[in-house]
Amino acid sequence: MTTTDPAAGATDGTAGLPDAPALGAMALPAGTYEGTAVVITGGGTGLGRAIATEFARLGASIVVASRRPEHLAAAEAAMAALDAPVLTVTCDIREPEQIAAAFDAAEARFGLPAVLVNNAAANFPVPAEDMSPNAWRTVVDITLNGTYFCAREFARRHLAAGTPGSIINVGASYAWTGGPGFAHSAAAKAGVKNMVETLAVEWGPYGIQVNGLVPGLFPHEDMTADIQGNLARTEDKDSCQPALRVGRPRELGWAATFLASPYARFISGHTLVVDGANWQRRSLTNPPVVTVRDQMGRGPFEP
Ligand code: HXC
Ligand code: NAP
Repeated sequence: MTTTDPAAGATDGTAGLPDAPALGAMALPAGTYEGTAVVITGGGTGLGRAIATEFARLGASIVVASRRPEHLAAAEAAMAALDAPVLTVTCDIREPEQIAAAFDAAEARFGLPAVLVNNAAANFPVPAEDMSPNAWRTVVDITLNGTYFCAREFARRHLAAGTPGSIINVGASYAWTGGPGFAHSAAAKAGVKNMVETLAVEWGPYGIQVNGLVPGLFPHEDMTADIQGNLARTEDKDSCQPALRVGRPRELGWAATFLASPYARFISGHTLVVDGANWQRRSLTNPPVVTVRDQMGRGPFEP
């Protein structure tokens, strides 16, 4: 970088981090997950589906649990395209009984799943002062409580069976930094990251590995309208990343399949950030402060 104008972006021909290999490339030996069932919550959309896809390519049987029939249908179609065995189950992860029923169905079909990817989460942009108590509760209930309830169900079954397993909790980097405009989600994700560290120690002796996986900015067509609207305010998202590009959903899939694989057995209690170093950006001076209300195009606060 030779420019001194911070608004000018990279003007000296810097190219950023190289792009990812093409969709379909495999980072692990073929068949790594042959005979293994993998549960992915929220696996019918976006990053969850990308994660399911990479496990399926490596031979896994896939179980997708989420609420909406159209998302479950999308998971079935994606797995059918890969000829991968798939089971979809309607499940709201806020409800422990529904989670137990989903695991019963998974076990009946494929045997006890050896991998759980806690990918489902809830989020919408909202200034903290505008958020209703129920909005806060809803996001925390899905993102933090739901993640714990799924992990608990998985671990109890493995402890009872005396079998090892691997849990991956999908997080967000504002777990460390705070997330202006996303107070509920950031607090919940901080809890999720902390939970990884506790559960990895508690359940390691029983053979259960627990890790976190944090995506940076991974735009995709399933993002909720709220979040897409928020992102649309930044025209060129690539130039705002140190990598000079956003993440490709398959890159998160490769990271997830590595973390739960035999090659990562000694990695536990760790949260892996896949964001091209975006969350590490620091400057001696920062851009002028714009309030969250202004960022979101909202008028003055009205009680
Ligand atoms: C303010 C909102 C709101 C919004 C809902 N609420 N949407 N408040 N702004 N945009 C409030 C409601 O008014 C209500 O409070 C409370 O939240 C619960 O709303 P419901 O619609 O009843 O909840 P529910 O049907 O359970 O749906 C949950 C949901 C919904 C979170 C609101 O958006 C959802 O299902 N989301 C799942 C998908 C998702 O969120 N994906 C994002 C993951 S991406 P009151 O007080 O009125 O009763 C991510 C990373 C983002 O996390 C990083 C981006 C860069
Ligand atoms: P998404 O497409 O909106 O996926 C969210 C999924 O969660 C949906 O499939 C949804 O399915 C499921 N879900 C929500 N509430 C649920 C509930 N109560 N019970 C069961 N399932 C529920 O978002 P995404 O971008 O792929 O996000 C996936 C993960 O990555 C999340 O943990 C998110 O926080 C994290 N993340 C994403 C980004 C990004 O740039 N995309 C950045 C940072 C972190 P149903 O509606 O069918 O229930």
